Amino acid sequence: MEFKHKSVLLKETMEHLKINPDGIYVDGTLGGGGHAYEVCSRLSPKGRLIGIDQDEDAIKAAARRLAEFEDKVRIVRSNYCQMREVLEEYEIFQVDGIVLDLGVSSYQLDDPGRGFTYRNGEAPLDMRMDNRQEFTAKDLVNTYSEMELYRVIREYGEDKFAKNIAKHIVAARKKKDIETAGELTEIIRAAIPAKVRMSGGHPAKRTFQAIRIELNGELEALQDSLEDMIDLLKPGGRICVITFHSLEDRIVKNIFKKNENPCTCPKDFPVCVCGKIPIGKAINRKPVLPSEEEMIYNSRAKSAKLRVFEKMGRE
Ligand SMILES: C[S@@+](CC[C@H](N)C(=O)[O-])C[C@H]1O[C@@H](n2cnc3c(N)ncnc32)[C@H](O)[C@@H]1O
Ligand SMILES: [Zn+2]
Repeated sequence: MEFKHKSVLLKETMEHLKINPDGIYVDGTLGGGGHAYEVCSRLSPKGRLIGIDQDEDAIKAAARRLAEFEDKVRIVRSNYCQMREVLEEYEIFQVDGIVLDLGVSSYQLDDPGRGFTYRNGEAPLDMRMDNRQEFTAKDLVNTYSEMELYRVIREYGEDKFAKNIAKHIVAARKKKDIETAGELTEIIRAAIPAKVRMSGGHPAKRTFQAIRIELNGELEALQDSLEDMIDLLKPGGRICVITFHSLEDRIVKNIFKKNENPCTCPKDFPVCVCGKIPIGKAINRKPVLPSEEEMIYNSRAKSAKLRVFEKMGRE
C-alpha cells in the first residue's frame, strides 16, 4: 500500500520553526516524513534531523521519503515520550526545534488491516499505532466496563449518545465477542436514534476516535512529555505542536501557559516569592489555523490547530 498522507499546516509550521540551517531538529511524529522533508530541505550539511515514530509502517515510509537526506537524518522507532533517551543515544542534549503533528496519519486510517476506521467493515478491531503493544481495540471493547466505555466515548468522542452506545456494546458482547470494525459500527448505529443517524457525519466516527485515543494513550503521552520537550530546547529554540482534538489543544495551551508564567504565588502578593521564572513564551495567543484553501483540499485539516512556544532568549 502506498503511503498517502497530506501534511497539515506545512507552510505555517516551517515559518514558525524559524529554522537555523546548522541546527538540530526533532520530529516526534514522523509519519510519512512530510514535515521532516521540509525541515531537511532547509538544513545545511551540518544540520541534523532526528525523526521518531512508534509505527513500524511510518518508519519504513519515512525512510524512503527522506532517503535523499540520508547524511542528515536519523530515524528511530520509539514513542516521543522517550525523546530525551533517543537523543542521548546520539549524544544530543539540546535541540533547536521540535515538531509534533499529533494523531494518526491518513495512511494508518486507510490501511484496511489496521482497523482504525468504520469504513473497513471486515478489518479486525486493532487500532494500535505501535504493534509491539499487546492490548488491541478488540480487547478494549470486550473488556472495559460499561462505565469505562461511557467515559471514553463521552470524553474523547464527545458523543451525546455515549451512554447508550456503551450499553449496546456491553449487551452485544454478552452474546459474542465483538471482532471487527463492521460489527462495532452496527452496534453503534443501533444505539443512535434514527433521526440523528440521517444528519451529521457517520454515527461511528466519534466512538472510533475515542477508542483510538484511549487505546494509544494519546493524551497521557502529550501531557507527560510536552514539558520535558520544552526543557530540551536550546535558548531561542521553538516547539510547534499540531493538534486535532480540543482536549489535545487544551493540554498544549495549558502547558505553554504554565511555562510562560510558572509563578505560583497567591494573586494578592505584591511581588513574586516563589522564584519560578518564565521558561519562554507562547508565540501566538490564538492557535494558527489552516487556510480555507487547505481545509477544502484536505478534510483532515479542518480540526487542526498549531501552537508554538519559544524558549527564553539566547544566553
Ligand atoms: C499525523 S501523523 C504525522 C504526519 C507527518 N507529520 C507527515 O507530514 O507526514 C502522526 C504520526 O505520529 C505517530 N505518533 C502518534 N503518537 C505518537 C507517539 N506518542 N510517539 C511516537 N509516534 C507517535 C503516528 O504513528 C503517526 O505516524
Ligand atoms: Zn511567584
